Amino acid sequence: MKKIIQNREGCIGCGTCVALCPKFWEMDDSEGKANLKDAKKNEETGEYELSVEEIECNQEAAEACPVQVIRIEN
Ligand code: F3S
Repeated sequence: MKKIIQNREGCIGCGTCVALCPKFWEMDDSEGKANLKDAKKNEETGEYELSVEEIECNQEAAEACPVQVIRIEN
């Protein structure tokens, strides 16, 4: 399993992840931040995590995020 991790706190809501990878990402317009769909909050780190078999478009999203708050753990 691989993990997609978002430091949601640092998200500035630019929407690039949603544009590049809508299967996994959606905008939360009320908060102006992106949600990683079905992710669970890690209460220790405050980050959101989702385990996946395949990274798919999340690699592109991680690379394109202007504030680098998306990362992938293999
Ligand atoms: Fe936020 Fe980065 Fe996506 S700033 S909206 S997580 S591309």
